Amino acid sequence: MEEFRAPGLYRRGSNLYTVNLRPGEKVYGEDLLTEDGVEYRKIDPWRSKLGAYVAQGGRLWPFERVRSVLYLGGGHGTTVSHLSDVLPKGSVHVVEKSPRAFGALLALAQRRENLYPILADVQLPERYRADCGEVDHLYQDVSQRGQVEIFLENVHAALKPHGTGFLMLKTRSVTQTESPRAVLKTATRHLDSEGCEILETVDLSPFSRGHFALLLRAPG
Ligand SMILES: C[S@@+](CC[C@H](N)C(=O)[O-])C[C@H]1O[C@@H](n2cnc3c(N)ncnc32)[C@H](O)[C@@H]1O
Repeated sequence: MEEFRAPGLYRRGSNLYTVNLRPGEKVYGEDLLTEDGVEYRKIDPWRSKLGAYVAQGGRLWPFERVRSVLYLGGGHGTTVSHLSDVLPKGSVHVVEKSPRAFGALLALAQRRENLYPILADVQLPERYRADCGEVDHLYQDVSQRGQVEIFLENVHAALKPHGTGFLMLKTRSVTQTESPRAVLKTATRHLDSEGCEILETVDLSPFSRGHFALLLRAPG
């Protein structure tokens, strides 16, 4: 096993792993692998867009100085669980509006002390801003038409100046009448006009078709 990106991302062959914060426990049926007394959980890039970002050649891994994350659209906790592994001493506040998914996040948070699920709509950051405070990193994965606007509202509400963020852009939720590349271009222009620096853009096909991972730096 080699450390592939610091902190906390490992690789063996073409497979990616994080160190399991809860040895012996799987979160979504992923493979576990033990080497030199350390247990690793395999990241499935078909299930996690963060995994797909790295598998598709994403070069930057922006968690080196990150202590706090605001995660929008936690789902059942697949990617959240890997971030929890990567930031054992950090905090990950996770916003989710589906009660069913929120239940899964609550169960996960009972076993992982760095997770703080919040049942709320990501379009209303004023509902959770006091809970998460100002964060170092904003991660968004919600299939909503106004994904870029939601991301920018949360940047302004909760991301520290020069903080980093991943926007997992689902182009088909924005519009089905324009090509994915055209949607990406419009999104990029909008983010740029609001002072966000785009550090990297990665096409997540074939793992998530029509999705792009945008890694951004917030204005100062
Ligand atoms: C693609 S899934 C997230 C998968 C997850 N990020 C992962 O990688 O494991 C999108 C999630 O966003 C949630 N969502 C969509 N719109 C939302 C909103 N306005 N507020 C909060 N959650 C929302 C959905 O309920 C769904 O669970």
